[in-house]
Amino acid sequence: MGAIIKTADEIEKMRIAGRLAADVLNMITPHVVKGVTTDELNTLCHDYIVNQQDAIPAPLNYGHPPFPKSVCTSVNHVICHGIPSDKKLKDGDIINIDVTVKKDGYHGDTSKMFIVGKPTILAERLVRVTQESLYKAIRMVKPGVRLGDLGHAIQQYAESHDYSIVREYCGHGIGATFHEDPQVVHYGRPNTGDVLEAGMCFTIEPMVNAGKRYSKILPDQWTVVTKDRSLSAQWEHTLLVTDNGVEILTLRDEEDIERVIEH
Ligand code: MF3
Ligand code: CO
Ligand code: CO
Repeated sequence: MGAIIKTADEIEKMRIAGRLAADVLNMITPHVVKGVTTDELNTLCHDYIVNQQDAIPAPLNYGHPPFPKSVCTSVNHVICHGIPSDKKLKDGDIINIDVTVKKDGYHGDTSKMFIVGKPTILAERLVRVTQESLYKAIRMVKPGVRLGDLGHAIQQYAESHDYSIVREYCGHGIGATFHEDPQVVHYGRPNTGDVLEAGMCFTIEPMVNAGKRYSKILPDQWTVVTKDRSLSAQWEHTLLVTDNGVEILTLRDEEDIERVIEH
């Protein structure tokens, strides 16, 4: 099964869901400080999505076993799918908050890294290079480009900084279903994989480790960590392929990239 090409109507709903997901990250940003627990951040996001946005936090009860919270909070060596808990953030922690909102039947999926308190040089570089790898791939998106071209660009960029790319988790098509075809891996070879077409919606969400690429899942069956306990960073956007480029459906005002990129 290939990617679903969205109708004009569906694209409008994807724009709305994308904006709401981005708004959750904007809302939570001033709350990500030393001493707050990831469960408190989860509650703020949950209440905002349900009460202010009249939307659904898609992670809650998703999958098997059901994910128990409304956002993922992945701290330090947690690669992804971290479960919010009563653990407090401390100075120098890095944390990814991954928000997926479902509104009017359609999904918006986006995540952002935060550095708590005083950033270390190491953390700052990993977080920046990971975001740059996402932006590099986004700037390549247009009809005719292949998924392997994107994966290759991300992998090359991360590895040129002596970082590694996680292989077990990937981006994905998105729409009425949270995770739909195609799988969007963040490594690969140019000129391979599915060809992008106008009307496709998918995420790019590179997970970049400061150490080796290997991961393992904790006994809670969700939390994914680096095997060598090295730091890991991730950024995610939901994208629409347009006739001549890409639209970033989950863009935030603070970002230094254009919402609509035309080639
Ligand atoms: N938001 C994640 C993604 O980018 C998926 C989280 S699944 C959950 O695809 F159940 F952990 F929330
Ligand atoms: Co995603
Ligand atoms: Co996500």
